[in-house]
Amino acid sequence: MTTPAVPEIAVEDPDQMRALGARLAPLLRAGDLIILDGPLGAGKTVFVQGLAAGLGVCSPVTSPTFVLARVHTDGRLPLVHVDAYRLGGAAEVDDLDLDADLGRSVCAVEWGSGLVEQMAAAHLRVEISRPSGDETGDVRRVRLRPAGADWAARLTALATPDRTPHPQGPAAR
Ligand SMILES: Nc1ncnc2c1ncn2[C@@H]1O[C@H](COP(=O)(O)OP(=O)(O)OP(=O)(O)O)[C@@H](O)[C@H]1O
Ligand SMILES: [Mg+2]
Repeated sequence: MTTPAVPEIAVEDPDQMRALGARLAPLLRAGDLIILDGPLGAGKTVFVQGLAAGLGVCSPVTSPTFVLARVHTDGRLPLVHVDAYRLGGAAEVDDLDLDADLGRSVCAVEWGSGLVEQMAAAHLRVEISRPSGDETGDVRRVRLRPAGADWAARLTALATPDRTPHPQGPAAR
């Protein structure tokens, strides 16, 4: 079976990164695992800020580098935001006891590749990169890689323009 090509999304600035995260939020369900991949300063936390905003989270979303994990409970679904950068391996991930929360939450893990995939049967990997050689510019490239369950189908909804009628209709404009 061939894996369909994953489109690359150009993200010009932090606001666009937040907007991309926010567009994903309506597709999320309890139990979802999102793994964020990308170098230091790529924009992983900025993406999670958008995700949180889209879930209706009002509490501030900052990098959980030192606390390792933070739970935001004020949105549509609890959002568990993890930074695995300082975790030494899968055993330390187990110590965080995330499984207890996962079934009823959305879990977004920065630096989680190779560490947290076993926590759920499926996940969405958000890969963020900078165009090569550009260490200072704002442009980022994002690939959303579905792994398992219905993630691929859900992402097609993301690609389809929103056809929901404007709440007030064209006549109101
Ligand atoms: N297109 C862009 N998308 C996202 N962030 C951008 C973009 N352009 C510039 N930035 C800036 O890059 C920084 C990204 O920081 P962020 O904390 O989100 O990175 P990170 O990937 O979480 O890093 P770390 O690995 O240290 O946790 C922010 O200061 C943000 O304003
Ligand atoms: Mg971060």
